Amino acid sequence: MPPTASIHGQWTTRLAFILAATGSAVGLGNIWRFPYIAGENGGGAFVLVYLGCILLIGLPVMIAEIMLGRRGRQSPINTMTSLSREEGVSAGWSSIGWIGVVTGFLILSFYSVVAGWALSYIFKSGAGGFVGLDAGGSEAMFDGMLASPEALLAWHTIFMVMVGIVVARGVQSGLEKAVTILMPLLFVMLLVMVGYAVVQGNFAEGLAFMLAPDFSELSANAVLLAMGQAFFTLSLGMGAIMIYGSYLQSDASIPRTAGVVVGADTLVAIVAGLAIFPIVLGAGLSPGEGPGLIFVTLPLAFGEMPGGLIFGTVFFILLSFAAWTSAISIAEPAVAWLVETVGMTRVAATTVLAIAAWTLGLAALLSLNVWSDYTLFDMGVLDFLDYLTANILLPLGGFLIAVFAGWRMTRGSVSAELAMRSPALFGLWYFLVRFVAPVAILLVFLRAVELI
Ligand code: PHE
Ligand code: NA
Repeated sequence: MPPTASIHGQWTTRLAFILAATGSAVGLGNIWRFPYIAGENGGGAFVLVYLGCILLIGLPVMIAEIMLGRRGRQSPINTMTSLSREEGVSAGWSSIGWIGVVTGFLILSFYSVVAGWALSYIFKSGAGGFVGLDAGGSEAMFDGMLASPEALLAWHTIFMVMVGIVVARGVQSGLEKAVTILMPLLFVMLLVMVGYAVVQGNFAEGLAFMLAPDFSELSANAVLLAMGQAFFTLSLGMGAIMIYGSYLQSDASIPRTAGVVVGADTLVAIVAGLAIFPIVLGAGLSPGEGPGLIFVTLPLAFGEMPGGLIFGTVFFILLSFAAWTSAISIAEPAVAWLVETVGMTRVAATTVLAIAAWTLGLAALLSLNVWSDYTLFDMGVLDFLDYLTANILLPLGGFLIAVFAGWRMTRGSVSAELAMRSPALFGLWYFLVRFVAPVAILLVFLRAVELI
């Protein structure tokens, strides 16, 4: 029998879970990754496919992932082991937990490097570095940062230490309050940026770029990227949401909770896009700029708007904070497992993971400069880690979660854990998780490798 409460603690309220899960979901994925990937893939049609993936795959898989976590009440590896035993199916399903731990380690390594960019921009803005910047100057500033391994190393190290400190103390201390204040503030800042984009940017063209679909431009690979972005942005498929679910009280409604988290995350991504594309097009930059998109674009806006020095500084503080709460959740499944099964203290477990991810992060940051000639599948180390985790490992994890919840657990255990009042809604979720999500993930995979 799985324990009735997690040894790592329990959220005090359903709101605490929502805040933590939203803290996990809202991060670089929304503000850095979504605009640049959407921009590289032509906008409109990509965004529509992404939204379709959120609704038809992301939401049902999130409900399943929280459900597994709450039923298992342990780290994802042990949760999957004990649920498999309970349901009388192969212990091989614990691989969901194992894949998640590896995926989390890989994501943490490059996530920390990119979060370091955000940290560095706090000080660039604070020092007045955005004032009077033109598009060329902004690009030079970003490229200059990437060209400096020392600077990247310093910020990567600082960020990893920040993550380690919180994870070592246990996720629940202090995080809830910080999220309650800072997340809405980040959202307000994004609205300010949209306001600026309406007044100063090319809003009509930006809106059209983001929302008018042109499906003739959409490649099979772009569909894979849209699905990968849906998983990445919702923190799905690696156990982060599962472990947060394991701290959730047994009487909280999982579907409603998941709905709030998915809604908040999607809103932030869309608003980020509405802020960025009009400014990009207004400044004569290309939406396909790549990973530097927001770091090149936003400083132009901050450099020009009244109070931009303060706005810019606060914005990058909030972005770093959002990245921080996400990174904490990325580390949590591995740390919880090391504590539960290997018997390490939280501090020791966190130290081991942080040092390992920091080390791999070195390769990621060197791939931006001195190692830029080394590629794997035509990608530098950072891009490769990002591609592998977001587009392959997370959807694979999500596929296995959907199949386990939909086909390996009995309908009885699933409906007991979810305790949904409406049989019709339960039926809809069950259909999505058994058929739509797994089949869609499989088809996108097969199409991307040109097997169909
Ligand atoms: N969802 C986070 C973001 O959008 C990233 C993340 C991925 C967090 C996977 C946890 C697990 O930035
Ligand atoms: Na996100």
